[in-house]
Amino acid sequence: MLILSDGRTHRVAAEATTAGDAVRLQLSDAPVNATMLPESVLYHVLRTGETTILDDASAEPMSATDPYVGEHRARSILCLPLRNGAKPMGALYLENNRIARGFSPGGIAVLKIMASQAAVSLENARLYRDVAESEAKMRRLVDANIIGFNVWDADGNILEANDVFLRMVGYGRDDLVAGRVRCVDLTAPEKHDDAIRARIELAETGRTKPFEMEYVRKDGGRVPVIVGFAASDANGRKGVAFVLDLTEQKQAEKKVRESEERYREVQAELAHANRVATMGQLAASIAHELSQPIASTVISAEAALRWLDREPADIDEASRALDSIVGGANRAADVLGRIRQLVRKAPRRKEPVDINEVIREIADLVQGEARKSGAQLETQLAEGLPFVEGDRVELQQVLLNLIINALEALNGIDGVRQVCISTTETEGACVLVTVRDSGPGFGPNGTEHAFTAFYTTKATGLGMGLSICRSIIDAHGGRLWATESSPRGAVIQFTVPQRPAVSSREAQSTDATDAD
Ligand SMILES: Nc1ncnc2c1ncn2[C@@H]1O[C@H](COP(=O)(O)OP(=O)(O)O)[C@@H](O)[C@H]1O
Ligand SMILES: [Mg+2]
Repeated sequence: MLILSDGRTHRVAAEATTAGDAVRLQLSDAPVNATMLPESVLYHVLRTGETTILDDASAEPMSATDPYVGEHRARSILCLPLRNGAKPMGALYLENNRIARGFSPGGIAVLKIMASQAAVSLENARLYRDVAESEAKMRRLVDANIIGFNVWDADGNILEANDVFLRMVGYGRDDLVAGRVRCVDLTAPEKHDDAIRARIELAETGRTKPFEMEYVRKDGGRVPVIVGFAASDANGRKGVAFVLDLTEQKQAEKKVRESEERYREVQAELAHANRVATMGQLAASIAHELSQPIASTVISAEAALRWLDREPADIDEASRALDSIVGGANRAADVLGRIRQLVRKAPRRKEPVDINEVIREIADLVQGEARKSGAQLETQLAEGLPFVEGDRVELQQVLLNLIINALEALNGIDGVRQVCISTTETEGACVLVTVRDSGPGFGPNGTEHAFTAFYTTKATGLGMGLSICRSIIDAHGGRLWATESSPRGAVIQFTVPQRPAVSSREAQSTDATDAD
């Protein structure tokens, strides 16, 4: 009986029985059990790797109690381990139930040699079967024509390839047969370094992790792929490659990128339109603000002329008047500069911003508007606040929107009309800005809809302000939200992350760029 073992299970592979001169051979593949042979003997042989000879099984301590021996009256038993080197592979079990001492020493020696040869043959057969199985699997994969596949050699020739691969790179089978498909022509020049890295990895580990590549097609076009190599010999001089076409995926990615870009553009345009519209709202009050320094400039100029007309001319007084003209003109220029900045269309920047300064500038700009609606605009700015990182104009825009909303909410209410803007530092390295007003608050709908684009409760409102504010603050990595204040009024708050700590050298170079 030939028993094959894979370490865990033991199966009877063949059984031969002699009766007279006839030998009956039966191939099988059944797990060993106690009705086939004395398991005690088999396990002893498998465990110890020693040949066991029992001259009279029913009398030997190892087997006397084995149910099989009692039932089949087994007399002489010989069990030989099958080993290939140190690897146990199974056993050969022989039994003679006619006579005791049925195996001669000469016969046993011959059997041992045969057993060792059988073991080697069996191992080879098993290896061949494994190879055949994995080849069949590979063949199925290649023939399925789902992914590109090729066989290459160390000189960079593609020796064999499936249709998918050939289609991908635009070569025909005739090119392949004529040896015209070569790795060096396929690899895009800028990817040569990656190819070299893959070669090194292949030589070291026998395979490469899949990586992205670009192939040059026969017609010169490009095809993005993901490729993995495996060596089929020990020194990595021959092997196979699996190639997946990424064209569709890349196109999809590009579309997503483009639509994201378009979305950002539209957002920037909306934000710009909102800035222009807001400035339009402020135009009247700003013009009024500007008329004051201009009027005082005129007065100072007339005074200067008078001082100069005197005999003798009073140069001291004249130059004082001229100084005040310069001061007034600078203030006007400042205001105009800020307006120009707000209305200008510029790409988003990332720079250190002092939020308190932003608030002061905007408060300055809307002071006239506040006065016009009889409101008091107050600031409570924390000292020593860290800089935040972001786009100065966008942050100005957020504040402008929030303050104008507050002023609009105050229009037509009885009682104190007050807007207060405050800043503090918060946990999580953020700066918190609060805009609080004494208006009616958000009303019965609460704050829920206020951030929805185009939601407005105003006759001439656009309903874009708060949603733009939120998207700007989101883009800065912060948060913007609204609550009701008690006993009345609205509170809008937002956070902006503090500027990440930078080394002093970086800070210097940023400062230098800021200066120019
Ligand atoms: N400070 C506030 N007090 C009360 N309601 C407000 C305040 N700010 C915003 N809202 C409400 O949110 C709505 C949306 O505001 P917003 O997006 O700026 O658009 P718009 O100002 O054009 O109406 C406003 O119409 C108003 O109903
Ligand atoms: Mg608004």
